[in-house]
Order: sequence, then C-alpha cells, then structure tokens
Amino acid sequence: MKVLLIGATGNVGIRLVPALLTHNHSVVAFVRSAKKLKDLLPADIYKRIVVVEGSATDSKSIRNVILNAQCDAVVNTAGVAALPPWGKSELPAIFKAVLEGVRSASEERKTALRVWFLAGQGVLVYPGTETMLSSYMPIYLEHRQNFRLLQALPADALHWSVLCPNMMTPATKPQDFTVPTKSPEAKLTASATTPPNWRDSWIRYIPFIGKSIVCAMNAQRYATTLEQAADFIAEDLVRRDSQWVGKAVGIIDANR
Ligand SMILES: NC(=O)c1ccc[n+]([C@@H]2O[C@H](COP(=O)([O-])OP(=O)(O)OC[C@H]3O[C@@H](n4cnc5c(N)ncnc54)[C@H](OP(=O)(O)O)[C@@H]3O)[C@@H](O)[C@H]2O)c1
Repeated sequence: MKVLLIGATGNVGIRLVPALLTHNHSVVAFVRSAKKLKDLLPADIYKRIVVVEGSATDSKSIRNVILNAQCDAVVNTAGVAALPPWGKSELPAIFKAVLEGVRSASEERKTALRVWFLAGQGVLVYPGTETMLSSYMPIYLEHRQNFRLLQALPADALHWSVLCPNMMTPATKPQDFTVPTKSPEAKLTASATTPPNWRDSWIRYIPFIGKSIVCAMNAQRYATTLEQAADFIAEDLVRRDSQWVGKAVGIIDANR
C-alpha cells in the first residue's frame, strides 16, 4: 500500500518508517520538519521515502497530500495525549483535523481509506464490563474523546482501527535502523475492545477501588516495544480484509 505516515518524527512514527518499508509499503511521511526526519534516519532509508512538510492540524493539507500522492492508507501518530486528567494538549485538534482530512479525501475518491490511529490502553474496556479502563485509571483522557469521534462515524465512512497500547519503550535507536527490520522481540498478541490475556482477581469486588487496583496490577504486563507496535500496524496494512477494522485494539507481548 501507499501509506501516508503522519508524525513520522515521533517515537512510534519513526519506527513505522522501516517497518512499513519492510512490509513492502511505499511511505509518504508528513512532518513539520523534513530536516528533523532526515537527521534522525539513516540516509539509505530516508532516500526511499517521500517527505511532505505540513501541520497535522491542517485538514486541507492532509486531504491534498492523500489525493496528490494517491495514498491508499494513513497512519496517524502525530500529537501526544496530556498525562493528568485536567491536562490539555494539541492532540484533540490534530486528531480532528486528520479525521476531517482523511474523510474528505475518502469522499473525493468515493472509497473508504484504511486508517490506523493511536490511543492508549484506557480506551479499552474492563473485561466483562462496558466501562473503559480510563474510568479506573483516569490518565491520558484525551484519547477517549478521540475514540468517540471514530465511534460516531457512519458505517463504511472509513476503515479505521485504533491501537491502544500501554507503555512502549524503544528497542533500537533510529540511527541503527535497517530495512528489513531486525526484530528480535516476539510478535504481539492482540484483541479487540478489551486487553488480551487480562488477569482478573477477586480484588475487583472491593468497593470503589477494586478495579483500579486490578488495572494497576496488570499495567506492567502490557509494556511493549515501539518496534513491536510499528511492526503490528505495518503487517496489518498488508491484509485486504483486516479483522481490526472498526475496532479498538489491545496488545500484549506474545510471551506474556
Ligand atoms: N509512547 C508511548 O509509550 C505511548 C503509549 C501509549 C499511547 N501512545 C500514544 O501514541 C501516540 C504517539 O506517541 P509517541 O510517543 O510517538 O509521541 P511523540 O514521540 O511525542 O511524537 C509525536 C509526533 O507528533 C508530531 N506532531 C506534534 N504536533 C504536530 C503537528 N501540529 N503537525 C505535525 N506533527 C505534529 C511530532 O512532530 P515534531 O517532531 O515536529 O514535534 C512527533 O512526530 C500518541 O497519541 C500517544 O499518546 C504512546
């Protein structure tokens, strides 16, 4: 696929460049600074991608890049959610603009584009309930409002998925990237709507605080590498009929 990668200079975005190339996609990177991207990536990888400068809050630019470059898919990793419940970031504005740009391009093309978004694990629901984990661990709440925008879309407007990782750490520095990627880590196990392999406990029945404690007990187990997440998205984009369309997707290292 020809993939528009928005936010290619970020932690996840930069790892998606070699991951997408490894899975034989073409990459159009949408960044605020081409120089920053060039300085981060090995020269042989930078040479293999098209780079467009712009702001992810500008829906018209996003629409135009998709149409002009004839992209079939979009991955949005731009912006980062504010940590405290009362915090504010540019992420909601970015998310709205990307959604608007992608929808407008889909309408123009008369075909629903395939899109991956990033959120946090808090968007998934506590197994056996319909309550988001972020109700029990109220952090990174901006992801919830973004997810609501996706849920409100008419069916078939977009073929969207949203990856909902917990903490992700780097395994490799950008200057050491290769194509194909060297991935010594395990693949991920994924599930829709709830976190995969959740460990529940009687503690959940303690009034008021029980489920929050179980969330905290589970949190560490869902740490993955940024490379694993990038590979998961890049591999999924190879499939014509992804099982993750229209879903919030939880992930865990397959060894856990
Ligand atoms: N990292 C984690 O452990 C983790 C865990 C769970 C969920 N997430 C979610 O995953 C997403 C990506 O996280 P991350 O760690 O990769 O974030 P990051 O490293 O902070 O990267 C954010 C990216 O967004 C770009 N950006 C910000 N404003 C922009 C704008 N107006 N126009 C264009 N680009 C813009 C930045 O570009 P510049 O380089 O120009 O600043 C950067 O490339 C976030 O939504 C985050 O909440 C991350």
